[in-house]
Amino acid sequence: MKKLLLAGSFVGLLSVSCTPKSTVTAEAPKSATSTAEQIAQGKTIYENACKRCHDLPEPTQYTSIEWVGIMNSMAPKAKLNDEQHQWVYDYVVSVKK
Ligand code: HEC
Repeated sequence: MKKLLLAGSFVGLLSVSCTPKSTVTAEAPKSATSTAEQIAQGKTIYENACKRCHDLPEPTQYTSIEWVGIMNSMAPKAKLNDEQHQWVYDYVVSVKK
């Protein structure tokens, strides 16, 4: 019974706190292209999250296509969210050979 009441008030809170947000999400979405800032973030995440299990691979060691597959298997290992996954990918492929 207590659980039900709690769930009820949680839903209530959610709907209240969501109302003012709808105006915020009406903003134009950011462009899909990566900014220098995101690439810099990606570098930091790469250097911190990817050397836990092995030495940092050289970004230039793999092609951008190989990095897609590598990131698909390594991002979950490093517990990256989708955004971080994207930023790290953007960083490694931004490094010029
Ligand atoms: C939880 C441990 C762990 C973390 C964190 C991790 N890796 Fe790995 N990585 C591995 C293991 C184990 C292998 C070798 C076996 C394999 O290929 O799955 C590997 C292999 C690799 C390889 C070689 C793949 C190949 O095909 O030659 C690359 C490149 C790589 N990791 C990149 C990364 C990057 C980039 C990150 C950060 C996003 C990362 N790893 C985070 C465990 C990890």
